[in-house]
Amino acid sequence: MDNLIVVTGGTGTLGRLLVPRLRAAGRGVRVLTRKARPPENGVTYVTGDLVKDEGVDAAVQGASVVVHCASDYSGDAEATRNLVRAASALPWAPHLVFVSIVGVERLPITGLGRLAFKYLGEKYAAERVVTESGLPWTVLRATQFHDLMLTAAEAMARLPVLPYPTGFAFQPVEANDVAARLAELALGDPAGLAPDIGGPEVFTMADLLRSYLRAAGKRRALLPIRMPGRSARAFRAGVNLTSNGSGGRTWEDFLAERVGAK
Ligand SMILES: NC(=O)c1ccc[n+]([C@@H]2O[C@H](COP(=O)([O-])OP(=O)(O)OC[C@H]3O[C@@H](n4cnc5c(N)ncnc54)[C@H](OP(=O)(O)O)[C@@H]3O)[C@@H](O)[C@H]2O)c1
Repeated sequence: MDNLIVVTGGTGTLGRLLVPRLRAAGRGVRVLTRKARPPENGVTYVTGDLVKDEGVDAAVQGASVVVHCASDYSGDAEATRNLVRAASALPWAPHLVFVSIVGVERLPITGLGRLAFKYLGEKYAAERVVTESGLPWTVLRATQFHDLMLTAAEAMARLPVLPYPTGFAFQPVEANDVAARLAELALGDPAGLAPDIGGPEVFTMADLLRSYLRAAGKRRALLPIRMPGRSARAFRAGVNLTSNGSGGRTWEDFLAERVGAK
């Protein structure tokens, strides 16, 4: 059991970058995924579903560390409860490593925010399942990944006019920089709540959209919308930002590679 690290979400944006780092450190790696896959590059895949609680016990067998990167739009708290139950049934206590989101513990989720920020509320509930699990744990909170901001900008740019929430700012971070930090934490001793990780720069939503449109060679009008409610007010106060920005890859460099080269 000493060598094996089980990664949930090892096929996702972050997990795909994390897994090779754990392998390079000489660790055995098993990934829990909903879709069957053959072993590849020394990584084995176990089929299961965390929300449906299928295959989870088998997935964690023999793990000394469980890194939980799996996530879906809904069900993250239930998925995490199922993972914790399976990990707690092992004859030893594995190190549980969880990736969360900067600001979830400070975001009031009320009124309209229950709909708009449901995912963040669910994330904080999942985080508490980890910290109250009784297992040795580490939680790393990250700001939004470059990939997510790009997906959002691309989706919005399908419209002729881009409505955006005024006063919101983001500090996008390179997923690979998060994967590097998460690998260090997974390979180390349980650290509790680790220092946040965020990108090197803060942008208003309008600036993020403008830089995307410029890189993609698109012209669109922006439509500022002031979102009501306490959750939106917390965003305008920068609840999702961290003073602990990384020296990692910038949004402009990311855009140049992912959009400019198209
Ligand atoms: N994206 C961001 O900006 C951001 C920022 C901060 C923190 N985070 C956190 O970082 C983590 C990884 O995010 P990501 O962007 O890499 O996610 P992602 O690309 O959407 O990948 C999601 C992963 O979760 C797995 N998954 C989903 N539902 C599952 C289920 N019911 N059972 C088992 N596996 C399931 C998927 O595996 P299969 O499809 O193979 O089953 C996939 O590997 C998440 O916890 C997220 O909240 C993300």
